[in-house]
Amino acid sequence: MKVPIKFAVIGLGHIGKRHAEMISRHADSKLVSICDIDKENNLAAYNVPLFDNLEQLLLSSPEFDVLSIATPNGSHASIAIKALSAGKHVIIEKPMALNSQDAQDIIDQADRNKKKVFCVMQNRYSPPSKWIKSILDQGILGDVYSVQINCYWNRDERYYTGKNWRGDLAQDGGTLFTQFSHFIDMMFWLFGDITNIQSRFNDFNHKNLSDFEDSGIIQFDFLNGGMGSINYSTSVWDTNMESSISIIGENGSVKIGGQYMNEIEYCHIKNYEMPVLEKSSPANDYGTYKGSAANHHFVYQNVLDVLINDMEIDTNAKDGFKVVEIIERIYNGNPYLKIKK
Ligand SMILES: NC(=O)c1ccc[n+]([C@@H]2O[C@H](COP(=O)([O-])OP(=O)(O)OC[C@H]3O[C@@H](n4cnc5c(N)ncnc54)[C@H](O)[C@@H]3O)[C@@H](O)[C@H]2O)c1
Repeated sequence: MKVPIKFAVIGLGHIGKRHAEMISRHADSKLVSICDIDKENNLAAYNVPLFDNLEQLLLSSPEFDVLSIATPNGSHASIAIKALSAGKHVIIEKPMALNSQDAQDIIDQADRNKKKVFCVMQNRYSPPSKWIKSILDQGILGDVYSVQINCYWNRDERYYTGKNWRGDLAQDGGTLFTQFSHFIDMMFWLFGDITNIQSRFNDFNHKNLSDFEDSGIIQFDFLNGGMGSINYSTSVWDTNMESSISIIGENGSVKIGGQYMNEIEYCHIKNYEMPVLEKSSPANDYGTYKGSAANHHFVYQNVLDVLINDMEIDTNAKDGFKVVEIIERIYNGNPYLKIKK
């Protein structure tokens, strides 16, 4: 494709601003327009044409090649499908959609229009993630016996302000979609699909803040062998505590921890010496709360490599689909989802 690749961003909130920054600072990409339904949202600073609805943006001049979608979760699928139909490639913030049918519809539309879908799963680029992926792929740990993922974060009334989409079942989808889908992606990327899922949920201190559970204990088997569990909660007082993964394998054990799986806490593997890893990027900082890794520059580098140099997509639509589909199966029968009639 012709360089610079032209981008538009829809949804200029916390993470949309980061997308705009990533596009603006790379020599091979150019931000040509932005779209947000909230005109008050300090958009003039971008010095590009502004739109307050998708339809106008898609008819806009200047034309663009890629739409970066950073709107609330519940709108990802409809925006992506319209953009793909209009001949744009799309970058979709996580989660790709809130149900597997919508995710499949995105894939089908991309196939029909021969356009590309990039999902944002930027935690995969953290040095500990790349390291554990490589030792698993080389078989250094041997058979995987057991995997335990713990995600303990704080999301309280400072986060669920009531003035936005957070906590709303139709737009947010639930704790596993919004807070912890990165870690479901990590699990699927490292160990593959799961089966025999048993889920327990509770809502300890979000009854007036969200339409869903705040905590869960999930157990399952991996199709590739071994068993696993995910323990998660957003009820932690005051601040994020950890996101960790502990792996017990035939030849050794590893624990990756920190707030968002950014530190190797334990590594003891037969005949193996742990290399020194690069430093992880800091967490995305949203003021009162912190999120996942600030690795969006890697996402954009991959988008440009794919569109300019025909390289492989690192986090493709099939992976985005699987994350949604696994969460859907985990949530099946969750009594804490307040489905509005
Ligand atoms: N990859 C990550 O680590 C990461 C981090 C944070 C958020 N996210 C994802 O990014 C998305 C946005 O999250 P956020 O925290 O930036 O939310 P936000 O509320 O800060 O921003 C959303 C923006 O979208 C705008 N918007 C809403 N509906 C729109 C529509 N139909 N058309 C145009 N604009 C619209 C809002 O006015 C707002 O400016 C969510 O899907 C979230 O899950 C990903």
